[in-house]
Amino acid sequence: MHINHRLEVDLGDRSYPIYIGTELLGSGEIIKQHIHGRSALIVSNSTVAPLYLDAVQQVLDNAEIRRDEIILKDGEQYKTMASVESIIDLLLTRRHDRRTTLIALGGGVIGDIAGFAASIYQRGVNFIQVPTTLLSQVDSSVGGKTGVNHPLGKNMIGAFFQPQCVIADINTLNTLPARELSAGLAEVIKYGLICDAEFFKWLEDNMADLLKLDQDLLAQAVMVSCQDKAKVVEQDEREAGLRAILNLGHSFGHAIETVKGYGNWLHGEAVAAGMVMAIDLSIREGWIDEDVRQRTVALLQQAGLPVRPPEDISTGQYLETMSIDKKAVDGKINLVLLRAIGDAFVTADYNHDKLLQTLAP
Ligand code: NAD
Ligand code: GLY
Repeated sequence: MHINHRLEVDLGDRSYPIYIGTELLGSGEIIKQHIHGRSALIVSNSTVAPLYLDAVQQVLDNAEIRRDEIILKDGEQYKTMASVESIIDLLLTRRHDRRTTLIALGGGVIGDIAGFAASIYQRGVNFIQVPTTLLSQVDSSVGGKTGVNHPLGKNMIGAFFQPQCVIADINTLNTLPARELSAGLAEVIKYGLICDAEFFKWLEDNMADLLKLDQDLLAQAVMVSCQDKAKVVEQDEREAGLRAILNLGHSFGHAIETVKGYGNWLHGEAVAAGMVMAIDLSIREGWIDEDVRQRTVALLQQAGLPVRPPEDISTGQYLETMSIDKKAVDGKINLVLLRAIGDAFVTADYNHDKLLQTLAP
């Protein structure tokens, strides 16, 4: 086991550490330290389990913790209440009590489902995030947003519920398909755009080596991303205001994901195209210069990401989907826009005609 970085998300009595390193999965030290009862349920999926379940099972066996596993089907389309119910059914059938711990072993889909199940089982049991995609290591495993999709909207059912710890083992990224690595890089680039101009520059300098899976650079990118996210979450855990900046590109992106059907455009791909749309509107408003678009498009393209939305989504479809998004309040669509690289803000005070121009296919 090698821990490159240990960060703390400082949320008072809900504080927790994020461990970032290599060979963390097979080492019992961290998991044991964060399991307080005598039982655990590992939640994983049919792709991740064959790769990494053994290692986690072994750790629990060595620690003499009674364990169960539930292996869900792989895919965003299974991020549903039905999956949550299957977890609850198993917990009850196998008589897990309030001191049990759920271990989310997988990407953001598994983390969101398992975290939500943990938040409602017997009014809340502990859970540990073991994110195995870049996207989940830099974003979804940190900050306590858990939940599932509804056919009428993404992430419409959920809860804020913080994990006991996050274990980000960089080695797991070695088996990740290139397209998924790119999707994670979209969220990494997002941090540079919203609050960290220095990191954006670092990414421009290091993207080629990140794509070659340089482990130290990946650990560094995960660390800075988590640090940036933690700083925002610590100030606004329940998204009363500031936290919404983490959603740069997401209003547009969620519309793309929803209209195209869950799973067709990856979340990170939709966010990449959505961030360019947010930049387009910010340029139309005169808040940023064209060079922000050029640098962002170049970096996203280098990371293997789309920089344009699909052509077959109408303005009406965007507006309809965006108006039921959680960031819409009283029918007004709040958007995250930019004043500069590293300086995002949330506003509903933009010109509606300019928004229509940005949305025009
Ligand atoms: P994902 O969980 O679907 O994982 C992507 C694919 O990679 C899946 O096929 C998965 O089985 C596979 N996989 C996972 N780890 C692997 C590994 N190490 N090797 C090989 N294959 C592996 O997708 P994701 O991008 O991790 O997460 C996207 C989800 O996260 C979306 O549902 C999104 O809404 C959610 N999300 C949540 C938050 C939050 O704050 N809770 C933030 C961002 C995104
Ligand atoms: N991914 C956005 C958030 O955690 O708030």
